[in-house]
Amino acid sequence: LMVDKGNHRHFMEKEIYEQPEIISHALSHYVDFASGSIKQKAEAIDFAKLRSLAISACGTAYLSGLVGKYWFERYARLPVEIDVASEFRYRDIPLSKDQAALFISQSGETADTLASLRYCKEEGLPIGAVVNVKESTIAREADAIFPILAGPEIGVASTKAFTCQLAVLAALSIQAGRARGILTEAQEKELVRHLIEMPRIMSKVLNLIQPQIEQLSRDLSRFKDVLYLGRGTSYPLAMEGALKLKEISYIHAEGYAAGELKHGPIALIDEHMPVIVIAPHDRFFEKTVSNMQEVAARGGKIIFITDEKGAAASKLATMATIVLPNVDEVIAPMIFALPIQLLAYHTAVFMGTDVDQPRNLAKSVTVE
Ligand code: AGP
Repeated sequence: LMVDKGNHRHFMEKEIYEQPEIISHALSHYVDFASGSIKQKAEAIDFAKLRSLAISACGTAYLSGLVGKYWFERYARLPVEIDVASEFRYRDIPLSKDQAALFISQSGETADTLASLRYCKEEGLPIGAVVNVKESTIAREADAIFPILAGPEIGVASTKAFTCQLAVLAALSIQAGRARGILTEAQEKELVRHLIEMPRIMSKVLNLIQPQIEQLSRDLSRFKDVLYLGRGTSYPLAMEGALKLKEISYIHAEGYAAGELKHGPIALIDEHMPVIVIAPHDRFFEKTVSNMQEVAARGGKIIFITDEKGAAASKLATMATIVLPNVDEVIAPMIFALPIQLLAYHTAVFMGTDVDQPRNLAKSVTVE
């Protein structure tokens, strides 16, 4: 397989920057640009009749599934049971035939994810696979394949596969919402319109924030611990931001639901642990800002990742505020993924780690 870095220093950087183009290509598989509606793709899974959906995956793929849970529950009123595959496969989960199962895997070869798939198959559930590698074992054993069409991802730290998984899950949840009579045609068109606009916004954002993030990563590289906070779909993103930072910069980072702050992690707050807050101006904004105030009151340094409305609404002093354009909540996770990817990338570059091949990690985990 021949893939080169082009003008980029690392595959990870290349993969971050190709997201707008690749996501637009992936979307064209799921979205009819002319009519502004979702193409029907999930014949093997009858969303209308489902009692609930089980989702399982590992690492970053699990975190995209967690964002998917919020969408399936909000847009399709479809309850989602989700767990990391290493737990899912052994938990003796009671399953029934009015459920379907969805497995998310870039490589399509992850051992625990495959074992979870086989468990659900034995229980007689229809199986969907959100995969990048269409010839993979997980793809072959599924009843329905939802390709993410991201192209080869070489960097061990997943970037474009994450946002493409999100785009596919967004489209599937809208499709489920229509099938279940929750979304009207007008609402579907409105959501699809946002998805179609997304690639253009992504390129704008990448150009806009790059210099600031590169600068900020120098400051971040001085710290040993980082806390990431978010609410709603920004909560899985906080965990993804922490995972990226750990994987390639080796800075210890944790992602927490902002509301959990006062249940433990607040004890860690001091000037040595910056808190990165992901907070678009959505229905959770005020709550997250009050968590930020709790951090500030204890001398914590804040890196605030927000949008224009959010920046205008908060008066708190921060170590840095990264301002993204205001976007609809259905595309916010893909847009807010960009600063967290770039922050991890530039911090790792600054620290001189092996960005594409971080220590102790494998691109595809085919053993338990
Ligand atoms: C992501 O940056 C990681 N390297 C890792 O968590 C990865 O997402 C996980 O191992 C799952 O891999 P898969 O998508 O190929 O199943």
